[in-house]
Amino acid sequence: MALKFHIKTYGCQMNERDSDSASALLIAHGYLPTEDENEADIVILNTCSVRDQAERKAIGKLGIMKRIKAERKHMIFGLMGCMAQSRGEELLKTIPHLDFVIGTDQIHSIPDAVEQILNGTGSKLDLRERCGADTPGIDMHRTDTIKHNAFISIMRGCDRYCSYCIVPYVRGHERSRNPESIVEEARELVRHGVKEIMLLGQNVAAFGLGRHAPNLPDDLSPFADLLKEIAKIDGLERIRFTSPHPAYFNKKLIETIAAEPKICKSIHLPLQSGSDRVLKKMNRPYDVAKYMHIVNSLRALVPEITFSTDVIVGFPTETDEEFNMTRQVMNDVGFDNAFIFKYSPRQGTVSARMDDDVPQDVKEERNQILLKDLEERQCSKNASLVGKEYVLLVDGPSKRNPKRWSGRTDTFKLAVFEPKQEIKAGDLVKVKIVRATPMTLYGEVVE
Ligand code: SAH
Ligand code: SF4
Ligand code: F3S
Repeated sequence: MALKFHIKTYGCQMNERDSDSASALLIAHGYLPTEDENEADIVILNTCSVRDQAERKAIGKLGIMKRIKAERKHMIFGLMGCMAQSRGEELLKTIPHLDFVIGTDQIHSIPDAVEQILNGTGSKLDLRERCGADTPGIDMHRTDTIKHNAFISIMRGCDRYCSYCIVPYVRGHERSRNPESIVEEARELVRHGVKEIMLLGQNVAAFGLGRHAPNLPDDLSPFADLLKEIAKIDGLERIRFTSPHPAYFNKKLIETIAAEPKICKSIHLPLQSGSDRVLKKMNRPYDVAKYMHIVNSLRALVPEITFSTDVIVGFPTETDEEFNMTRQVMNDVGFDNAFIFKYSPRQGTVSARMDDDVPQDVKEERNQILLKDLEERQCSKNASLVGKEYVLLVDGPSKRNPKRWSGRTDTFKLAVFEPKQEIKAGDLVKVKIVRATPMTLYGEVVE
């Protein structure tokens, strides 16, 4: 009988995408996926290291797996992902119930690793650098769970070395994929019914540039070229991407986003800090003026565009005044959404050598202030959308009330509505917003 596997994913969308490739590879090798880890013969945790809290979650789960494995002795238990890459060797030595560890660049070898454990042969640890970004197998998708939206990783790794960030150390050098193979992957997904594609990478706007320095000439953006090629695919309705680094936003990219209707008008543009001094210490090669220039240029071309961001509070030496600059920039841009993180020193990074001198309670306080600002802004923004009409890409019925369906606007707002006729996930439906809460819009189907 075929063995069943379960992959539990922590961390970012790139990890989700990697879990999907690993699952597709395991399925192709005859293993069966299961949603229930308690009936799985093979359990793999796909881990994240970006903040201490992310690692603690995985460590907690490692403890739980000890108990599960004590009852199910035949079970194979493995680790993949960023924490596997950074701490795999140590974990394999100290955790007897861990069978194998696969690094971020060896996803294609997961079926082999499982087979070797089953046969009692071979190595338990594979942290080798570095598969190419086009290694066969890592572009596979699970076709049994495919929906109307899908992820495509367009590059691997990161060469930016922001001083706080562990990603370049755990994901390796930046490698862009061949654009033709990305477009082919997108076409294949569309043949399977996909309507919306999210392009993934830690530094997507630097796609195809190699080691090109930031602050590009106005007319050079291989990423913009890629967006245009993907937009030509018939049947594809929407293109999103995450994360673009502001330093690579030039005129060509801005104009492409504005001009191409399939590119969603909701841009995630990580700010990190609103203080030029702190940005410099973070090794983020842009200043607030450049950031605002990108926002204002896009807004001038596309007035309805929305922005979301990432910011870090309590970076070493951040003063109250500098924190207030971040708060000010966030209010000036008027972000529709923001991921606010308390600085967490990561071993091996440049900022880990700086004194983590902003006390935890100050970080917490700054975090709360920004969250409250965000909530107030979301409240008033959503209220201002009542009466407007939007086209939703339908996600499906809500779990609690199957009569109520939900979908997303091009600007990534979630709206719920009661369908008038037969609809399915992936359909486009026009609604008029009749009511709003901070997180949700309520629409009525128009026509
Ligand atoms: N490549 C993306 C970010 C990926 S990591 C970019 O450059 O924008 C996602 C977010 O985690 C970052 O944007 C940053 O805000 C946050 N982050 C990364 N390292 C962190 C750390 N050491 N402490 C707190 N937040 C961190
Ligand atoms: Fe980390 Fe900076 Fe690379 Fe983003 S661009 S992954 S924050 S090093
Ligand atoms: Fe975490 Fe790795 Fe993503 S560290 S945020 S899973 S690239």
